[in-house]
Amino acid sequence: MSDDRTVLVTGGAGYIGSHTCLVLLEAGWTVVVLDNLENASEVAVDRVRELAGPAGTNLTFVRGDVRHGADLDRAFTVAPVDAVVHFAGRKAVGESVEHPLWYYDHNVGGTVRLLEAMQRHDVRDLVFSSSATVYGEPERVPLDEHCRTGATNPYGRTKLFIEEMLRDVAASEPGWRIALLRYFNPVGAHPSGRIGEDPVGIPNNLMPYLMQVAVGRREHLTVHGDDYPTPDGTPIRDYLHVVDLAEGHRAALDRIDVLEGAVAVNLGTGVGSSVLDVVAAARAATGHPIPLAVGPRRPGDAAEVWADPTVAADLLAWRATRTLAEMCADHWRWQQANPSGYRG
Ligand code: WQD
Repeated sequence: MSDDRTVLVTGGAGYIGSHTCLVLLEAGWTVVVLDNLENASEVAVDRVRELAGPAGTNLTFVRGDVRHGADLDRAFTVAPVDAVVHFAGRKAVGESVEHPLWYYDHNVGGTVRLLEAMQRHDVRDLVFSSSATVYGEPERVPLDEHCRTGATNPYGRTKLFIEEMLRDVAASEPGWRIALLRYFNPVGAHPSGRIGEDPVGIPNNLMPYLMQVAVGRREHLTVHGDDYPTPDGTPIRDYLHVVDLAEGHRAALDRIDVLEGAVAVNLGTGVGSSVLDVVAAARAATGHPIPLAVGPRRPGDAAEVWADPTVAADLLAWRATRTLAEMCADHWRWQQANPSGYRG
């Protein structure tokens, strides 16, 4: 489907970006990565090239920032770009509350610069890394793409603003085909254990924190509240294997011709798992007791968030296939082989 097509992947050295680059190389795409390495390591790009085998020669890395037009022009001129997958941006909810301007500058400002560069280079196919966080406090579960949106933090607001901006751009001139992929909770790693999630500092998210406990970097997991209106009292989320998610991006590029304008698509399994479900699966995968302490609820956390993945199946012919056990086994293999991530 894509044997002679080139895709520019912004933020392609990151967790989801690196897994997506590998899937696209394996599918025959030529891949150009633009990344400023502020929150990623070029080692990830090298390992993607290694894992891709002969297709690894079709991967070019450009160190640069989506906020700088000249860097974007360098990336667009490596090879004739046919489509863009846009990951580059900041993504820590807590940090966004403390430094909202970093998020508006990087996420919103960077996307404006990218869209201008796409116009300069006459590229109109775009897959955007959005997030289920745009749903804010869920109107209902499972969440479908028509559910009310609203953000509860600056990070989520940037995703929402960017989705609206992309709709406006698509309406302003013909030819735009844009997939707004709303990720639920990406976890896991490539089964090789060579690429994976490499959070800087103390992980905010559940799975990387659990795995750092199992590998001995953290003492215990603090469960943020066990008094929610759920079967075991802990919040429920839709955890999704990062390789399933990466394949969702390939599906969006392969089916982008069916999109008119900007179209939102949930990428989730449609299955909810509680915090304690994930802890049990992580204990089974790691063989580690993973001690727990129950702490207060985390502000902004909802009780239940999981996806209705029907649109992805109907529009993109994509469904998640990997189980929570596989997510934990693959995340653990990465963590064990890379106790300090890419930083050696
Ligand atoms: C999951 C559950 C926590 C850590 C976030 C972002 C969202 C998206 C995915 C980018 C919650 C509980 C967690 C811990 C815990 N990111 N938990 N102890 O909050 O659903 O979504 O990541 O797009 O935007 O909001 O994921 O992994 O942080 O939390 O008890 O040490 O685990 O309370 O119930 P979340 P999470």
